[in-house]
Amino acid sequence: MLRDDLNCLLSPWLLLPFILAWILLAHPIKRLRYPPSPNGLPIIGNLFDIPVDSPWLKYAELGKQFGSDVVHFEALGRHVVVLNSAKAARDLLEKRSSIYSGRAQSIMLSEITGWHRNWGLWQYNESYKSHRKAFVQHFRPEALPGYYGKQKKGIHTFLHSLIDAPDDFLAHIQYLTGQVILDAVYGFEVARDDPLLALTEHAAFTLKQIVGANMYLADIIPTFRHIPAWFPGGGYKRRAAEWKKLVGSMYEEPYRMYKAALREGTARPCLTSALMSAKGNRASESAELLQVSIAGTTYGAGAGTTMDTLSAFFFALTLFPETQIAVQDELDDVLCRERLPIVKDEAALPRTTAMLYELLRYVELLSASVLFHLIYLESWLTLPGIPHRSTTNDEYNGYLIPAGSIVIANAWAMLHDASVFPEPERFDPTRFLAADGSLKGDISLVGEAFGFGRRICPGRQFARDFVWLAIASILAMFTIEPALDEGGEELETKVEFTTRFMRAPLPFKCRITLRFPEAESLVRSASVDD
Ligand SMILES: *[C@@H]1O[C@H](CO)[C@@H](O)[C@H](O)[C@H]1NC(C)=O
Repeated sequence: MLRDDLNCLLSPWLLLPFILAWILLAHPIKRLRYPPSPNGLPIIGNLFDIPVDSPWLKYAELGKQFGSDVVHFEALGRHVVVLNSAKAARDLLEKRSSIYSGRAQSIMLSEITGWHRNWGLWQYNESYKSHRKAFVQHFRPEALPGYYGKQKKGIHTFLHSLIDAPDDFLAHIQYLTGQVILDAVYGFEVARDDPLLALTEHAAFTLKQIVGANMYLADIIPTFRHIPAWFPGGGYKRRAAEWKKLVGSMYEEPYRMYKAALREGTARPCLTSALMSAKGNRASESAELLQVSIAGTTYGAGAGTTMDTLSAFFFALTLFPETQIAVQDELDDVLCRERLPIVKDEAALPRTTAMLYELLRYVELLSASVLFHLIYLESWLTLPGIPHRSTTNDEYNGYLIPAGSIVIANAWAMLHDASVFPEPERFDPTRFLAADGSLKGDISLVGEAFGFGRRICPGRQFARDFVWLAIASILAMFTIEPALDEGGEELETKVEFTTRFMRAPLPFKCRITLRFPEAESLVRSASVDD
């Protein structure tokens, strides 16, 4: 009896090693490794391996060091996967977009400061899809000519201001972009001092603050969002409450004004009017929410990015003024110094287009803003438009990319890869031209500047046409050169970019002069005609 009991008790234990061996041999557990990572510390992992400033440089450097275009970080149990090559980004974010189209959510951004209406920040869900679909309808290629008149008018006013006050070019760019986007979205024609312009600027500033500050208590410890504003450490809540009001006004105020204009019969055709008259979209509460969200997000997302791109254009030419000569010759051949360019001229102006592509490559504004340093326990504060989030475990190049990873396409690394773009720090539009002067066939790469897959910027074609026309119009009439000091010597321009939210040039000076005597009357009469 006792022996039997012992047998009962012992036998399974004795068998255990055999059972385990059998399980392992018969069902080998597939053990995949994560992509290469720097050696981290216990628990906090790679927290301190991710630099706050210009993280894209570090990502690219680690990729080189590991000989892998996919790099991995782990901090506090969170996974970050950085894709340093266009191939990896296409393979994952495009070909496997069903897994990689999510977004990391931030409490500070989406819940506390009113940016929850920015649908670009949403998860890839039904609401996201319906918003994107409604947006794309009004920004598809056939819809774009509807905006050309507004773009042209804004640009002509801008050229006019460049003659009158060339040193204020940065302020003129700000007005140009705000004005054109407000016109495109709400059909408003605003003056320089219109409060709506200041409103967007302030609201966009909150986004920069949130992201630039890197890390908010509420994002670190989610329960902190419930602490009252007067509590020590709750100061961010007071600020957040002010910001929320601002962001709320940015979404609601122009929409309210549009509806007032509609009642008074003064509304002009624009994105909002198109959204309102779209089929099945009439006068329901959910339709109105969608309209507010789409219009406000377009307005908020379009103005700042276009502005930074255009200021980068002046910056690049201040550093590399010789590159504009060939473009100006081409413009003179086509326009004969008799008129300003229009979008339709593009086919005859490959050098101008090459300059646009080089600009997008050189400044690499948006996707460089891969800052996510902002992490930690529950929530990663991430950037609009940028990091994706995976939804299931995946395998790539033999590596495991775990579900829930923050996936960052390091477009900076792709667009500054010396094997594709020799001397990547040189601004050189001719790299996009073939020997016969035509545009190179495969210029898809600069698309990287606009993101990937199902998350690619849906307004990219509008932005591209707008910036193209601005560049062509500016160079048809003006020359951009380094500014002069009191003694008439050229000032040196420092190559400095912002290192966090976006990679935009820091404020700088340049000299902007008319190219030929008749240019002034051409510009002045064009801006009167519009
Ligand atoms: C989609 O996700 C966003 C947040 O990312 C959320 O606010 C929204 O309610 C979601 N929509 C649906 C239908 O789940």
